[in-house]
Amino acid sequence: MPEFINVADVSDVPDPGTLLVEVDEEMIALFHVKGSFYAIDDICTHDGGPLVDGELQGYTIICSRHGAKFDIRTGAALSMPAIRPTRSHDVKVEDGCVFVRLRETGSGPGIIPTSYSAPETTNSNTPLQPTKEKGAVVPPADSDKNTETESLTSQTLSEDLVRELLKQVKDPELFVNIVDLGLIYDVSFNPAPDNSKQLVSIDMTMTSPACPAGPQLIADTKRVVNTHEDVAEVEVRIVMEPPWTPDRMTDDARDQLGIF
Ligand code: FES
Repeated sequence: MPEFINVADVSDVPDPGTLLVEVDEEMIALFHVKGSFYAIDDICTHDGGPLVDGELQGYTIICSRHGAKFDIRTGAALSMPAIRPTRSHDVKVEDGCVFVRLRETGSGPGIIPTSYSAPETTNSNTPLQPTKEKGAVVPPADSDKNTETESLTSQTLSEDLVRELLKQVKDPELFVNIVDLGLIYDVSFNPAPDNSKQLVSIDMTMTSPACPAGPQLIADTKRVVNTHEDVAEVEVRIVMEPPWTPDRMTDDARDQLGIF
């Protein structure tokens, strides 16, 4: 098991305040709030932004890049675009020195020593991680789905229709469709050279450049648009400009994710 490492003196970090420290070659964000210390990875799980540069509000750190919020006591992701917790670590204070011990995973708060315990607080940050249960949309029965798809594919091909079709594609982590998430930037059409059908080009973004669901979302996008009989081919271009931000989501998506 890793050892506790002395990373700072209590007086090195104002209260409230933040300090970037290195523990076993890992960069750790150390927080001093209401007399207690907390430590989490200095990594925003949305896209790797440094948390120590963010704004500290109570027990919440707000990533300076796209605004994801994390609970500094547990590492829990509190708001989009982060959906996974960052790792929290054990912290103790002895003789005016702050010690951090790295943990394997980010569940639960680090140790808060009785010799330097935090005062009671009314702060009640509630982790709002979009869990499968919270975000899940019960998929329609296959027969309903097929009827819905058949109804759509019998309509005249248009940008609005393509967007309706794409609502069948859901982000596998958030369980919200890619249209309501604001991932579809542009839909355009060109006549196919050999027949009367259309080549459909879709500009699509991801919630982060390293989104692991990217290949699946691209494949699903092509598949559902190809179900329309007037479509000859579907091209999906991944664009990262302008970058996706949570304000691109519709109210429906926010409701499903519990963001208000
Ligand atoms: S990198 Fe932190 S919110 Fe995007």
